[in-house]
Amino acid sequence: MTGGLEMPFLNDLQLSWEEAWRLLIDGSQNRKSPLHTPTVATIRDNHTPSQRIMVLREADRDSRTLRFNTDYRASKVADIGHSDSVSILCYHPEAKVQLRLSGSGQIDQGSPACDAAWDEATLYGKRCYLAYPAPGSSVDTPTSGLDPEVEGRKPEGFEVAPARDNFAILLADIEQIEWLYLAHTGHRRALFSWDGGEKCWSSQWLVP
Ligand SMILES: Cc1cc2nc3c(=O)[nH]c(=O)nc-3n(C[C@H](O)[C@H](O)[C@H](O)COP(=O)(O)O)c2cc1C
Repeated sequence: MTGGLEMPFLNDLQLSWEEAWRLLIDGSQNRKSPLHTPTVATIRDNHTPSQRIMVLREADRDSRTLRFNTDYRASKVADIGHSDSVSILCYHPEAKVQLRLSGSGQIDQGSPACDAAWDEATLYGKRCYLAYPAPGSSVDTPTSGLDPEVEGRKPEGFEVAPARDNFAILLADIEQIEWLYLAHTGHRRALFSWDGGEKCWSSQWLVP
């Protein structure tokens, strides 16, 4: 894709919003998309921002939700317990689109949706949640946190089953999408905001 007047969404807010969601949904399904690994920011209890890369597992336009998987013991989970504000940033160099999303995060560990996310995780993916002590713990020696018994090989299902206790999903309820499209003919920037009362998106062009 190249920047230019030929892009149908260039001067169209509705099409720009649709393109934003198309890129997010593709990012959740396509491991090669740069939107597969956005930056997710939370706010620590000391009010400082904290960012990390996460794999975008699901994007749903109708429910305005993005899903990520996380260890329940991770600091981002504690952050969301203090403040549910989240911000998600991604850039697709080929599409020339930056998306800056914001909304509220929710940690879910016991719902059917979390069970389904666990079921669809690979054995290697599930193994990450066996780490002990908890992710982010200070240790005296370099370690993966995994028992040497399961390190360096594909684990069996029964070996990763206990890791389910540490697994959670982060659901980000998106309330704002800031769209930036880079084009040599002139960039375009727009803000899409969810109106919870009217249950609809409002949109507004911004100066890039
Ligand atoms: C490519 C890539 C993908 C990652 N995917 C995830 C993920 O899906 N979930 C996750 O919790 N951490 C993921 N991480 C690790 C996080 O960036 C981070 O280091 C870790 O979750 C600890 O963050 P926290 O202490 O802020 O909770 C990923 C890192 C990289 C580099």
